[in-house]
Amino acid sequence: MAEVVFNNLQKVYTNGFKAVHGINLTIADGEFMVIVGPSGCAKSTTLRMLAGLETISGGEVRIGDRVVNNLAPKSRGIAMVFQNYALYPHMTVKENLAFGLKLSKLPKEQIEEQVTEAAKILELGELMDRLPRQLSGGQAQRVAVGRAIVKKPDVFLFDEPLSNLDAKLRASMRIRISDLHKQLKKSGKPATTVYVTHDQTEAMTMGDRICVMKLGHIMQVDTPDNLYHFPKNMFVAGFIGAPEMNIKPSKLVEQDGKIGLTVGNYTLELNQYQQEKVAAHVGEDVFFGVRPEFIAISESPFEGNHSQGELVRVENMGHEFFVYLKVNDFELTCRIPSDDVKPILKNGLHRPVYFKFDMNKCHIFDAKTEKNISL
Ligand SMILES: Nc1ncnc2c1ncn2[C@@H]1O[C@H](COP(=O)(O)OP(=O)(O)O)[C@@H](O)[C@H]1O
Ligand SMILES: [Mg+2]
Repeated sequence: MAEVVFNNLQKVYTNGFKAVHGINLTIADGEFMVIVGPSGCAKSTTLRMLAGLETISGGEVRIGDRVVNNLAPKSRGIAMVFQNYALYPHMTVKENLAFGLKLSKLPKEQIEEQVTEAAKILELGELMDRLPRQLSGGQAQRVAVGRAIVKKPDVFLFDEPLSNLDAKLRASMRIRISDLHKQLKKSGKPATTVYVTHDQTEAMTMGDRICVMKLGHIMQVDTPDNLYHFPKNMFVAGFIGAPEMNIKPSKLVEQDGKIGLTVGNYTLELNQYQQEKVAAHVGEDVFFGVRPEFIAISESPFEGNHSQGELVRVENMGHEFFVYLKVNDFELTCRIPSDDVKPILKNGLHRPVYFKFDMNKCHIFDAKTEKNISL
């Protein structure tokens, strides 16, 4: 059992800076938890407290049934992979893999067995006799992961391990690390994994659940799907998803007994559920949010709810276009399938087109608290 628990965990650095503000998080045994957030939100600080590399200022960290606050890193049953992994330059890959095990005085045969198993999982076989300088960046990172695997930890910790790799390699390492986790689980030896990144794509593709952080606070902990479709606040809504959700100032108004949302010169009607949810906020300033794929555009008016904007820019992604519309003093990003946008582009840019939101997919945020009031 290696459940990981943060209980009101706090960090105040010696200069008085409060980096972590009493966070609570339970990571299930065998779960792949991603901690994501912008640079400086205290992802590394949190992970380092879990690893025992940073003192804990308040609260507790539990691994399995032990409170580990005062336990040395090597006694915590963890293995960590950093962004700046350092392999020993004068040792071969095989020696690098075996080094930690030799220090812990395991019998020779067992070291051999664990190294061979890790090498197999990470396909390091042909590289075993090479020195680190004879490896590509991706290969070296695989060895760094291998060094963590051979320890057979209860908990794997990763701190932005792929940030130094190019995009293609990042994508393939992402899959490799996910597969490794699944493989361990399948073999009946699940390792709880805590994976820190600033990259929302990594978070979305790798995590069983994702913990979104901002300035030392947890903003939401949820599955990738729930974070995407049901963000609890404006920060999560804007952070998860690329291109970003459109989030624009608006107002809730009542017209003919129905509650609507002002957008440009139009008032868009909300569905019944949304109207009930936001009824107490009529007349207030809000932000409305809509993801780029939930906007349609057309040369002719839509039926019902729609509005008009100027086509100012397009980016061709191949299977789809990112289309930018100027509406009053703001710009909307739309993701439109290529076949739908090409006929419209025949007539050029800088002219008005109609657009329509999938209102069922819109979010409404309180302007003061930034909470999603439409869930
Ligand atoms: N040793 C330190 N002393 C004071 N402040 C620090 C120290 N280390 C990190 N910080 C601050 O704590 C905050 C969180 O840092 P960090 O955990 O490295 O963030 P992240 O990993 O999310 O980028 C940042 O504002 C950073 O400047
Ligand atoms: Mg960091």
